[in-house]
Amino acid sequence: MSEIISMLNASTGSAAEKVRTLLRSRSGDGRLFRYYVRTFGCQQNEADSEKLAGLAELMGYVKTEEPGAADLIIVNTCAVREHAERKTLSIIGQYKHIKENNPSLVIAVCGCMVGQEHRRTELKMRYPYVDITFPPGSLHLFPGMLLDRLRGGKRSFAAEPEQPDVAEDVPVRRESSYRAWVSVMYGCNNFCTYCIVPYVRGRERSRRPDDIEAEVRGLVTEGYRDITLLGQNVNSYGRGSGSDCTFPQLLRRLASIEGDFVLHFMTSHPKDATRELIDAIADEKKIAKQLHLPLQSGSDRILKLMNRHYNFGEYRDKLAYLRERIPDVSVTSDIIVGFPGETEEDFEATLEALREVRYDRIFSFIYSPRSGTPAANMKDQIPDNVKNSRFERLVALQNEISLEKNRQLEGETLRVLCDGVSKGNGGMLEGRTEQDKIVIFAGDPSLSGHFVNVRVTRAETFNLYGEIIK
Ligand code: 5AD
Ligand code: SF4
Repeated sequence: MSEIISMLNASTGSAAEKVRTLLRSRSGDGRLFRYYVRTFGCQQNEADSEKLAGLAELMGYVKTEEPGAADLIIVNTCAVREHAERKTLSIIGQYKHIKENNPSLVIAVCGCMVGQEHRRTELKMRYPYVDITFPPGSLHLFPGMLLDRLRGGKRSFAAEPEQPDVAEDVPVRRESSYRAWVSVMYGCNNFCTYCIVPYVRGRERSRRPDDIEAEVRGLVTEGYRDITLLGQNVNSYGRGSGSDCTFPQLLRRLASIEGDFVLHFMTSHPKDATRELIDAIADEKKIAKQLHLPLQSGSDRILKLMNRHYNFGEYRDKLAYLRERIPDVSVTSDIIVGFPGETEEDFEATLEALREVRYDRIFSFIYSPRSGTPAANMKDQIPDNVKNSRFERLVALQNEISLEKNRQLEGETLRVLCDGVSKGNGGMLEGRTEQDKIVIFAGDPSLSGHFVNVRVTRAETFNLYGEIIK
């Protein structure tokens, strides 16, 4: 079983302190050492990057947005699709000449891509300017590995331990002062046949409810307004951890914290989404009326091949209960097209599911074979042209539905958390509703980080437009 370790008491803390001392001794002219972080992939990676930045600052580095000015470059990678990996490798390739100009630069690569042995070998052999890699579940190894390299140690490429520890008290440098990520669990036990995550992030392990509550309380006290709980499958939170707190119980506990904030969470595996979970969302005012419930495919045959452990009928029943309890709930999904063996009929079943469910939004993906996963070896891989055309049909259908659903909001007044000036919208502000809809409206940039009420005047497929109501 994984252990819960406190970074402050573990060797990580002392390694960080030693790096700090070392940098101080090398900055004879008082110069600053700078770090640059580049993040690919999901919210979990964004959350991890905030911890890596926190660790870098603890070690005495200061942030730069310019890789060319950095003494430490950290690349936090994704392996969910091949496209992400290719892009990452090409970016790492561009750091080669930065290192040529500055041989003391340290390049560290972490995240899911380097959870795979073949990628570690590739980086070791073909990217000699990469100094260290450490796996996604073991960020706390970073200071020790960096210290060793700075002291002249060999390049090193660590694999994930069988059961990674859960590290508490890792410093976090948050990007936002009002939106925060909070990981509640790490890893995944589900082994969906297309997915690399269980191989690179290891088995499920949960944080203690007391630690999570303390973090959320701290954030609310600091003025955070929007808190997203993260886990690959939050519904199995607590399983096997020796604690008897289920995810719905954790949600209720966090929602009872005093203060003006909204709780989101992701991701919920449909097989584990219970009535208890839906009741918690319905009952608790501070839990966003929104559920990300990835269907992946509307075909029962494909769902079985994907090892998803539910069929569309069961999914539909859960959704019916959700909508009965929370009529205005927003529902989103992930959909994969072109899974091996997907026939036109299977794909039609997915389109039909979209028409029936009427998601507010979907995240659609073209199936990408991941080496080491069962689906990569299945026969009947779908040709690219078929995958691409199904993808376009899927997106076109969903865009129609998203627009229709957004139009229903015209005339309504929604509570929006303002994110400041919107890019490319003529100085207008942008924000998100509790249901994660993007709203554009006129107002003063000082509203950033505050809730405002906005009446929707016009809807588009991806954005709503409106005006502030006093
Ligand atoms: N190919 C395409 N999409 C994938 N996803 C996970 N693995 C793959 C893959 N091999 C998608 C799933 C998951 C989302 C985060 O990424 O839809 O829910
Ligand atoms: Fe991947 Fe399935 Fe685990 Fe999600 S639940 S991370 S899709 S294996």
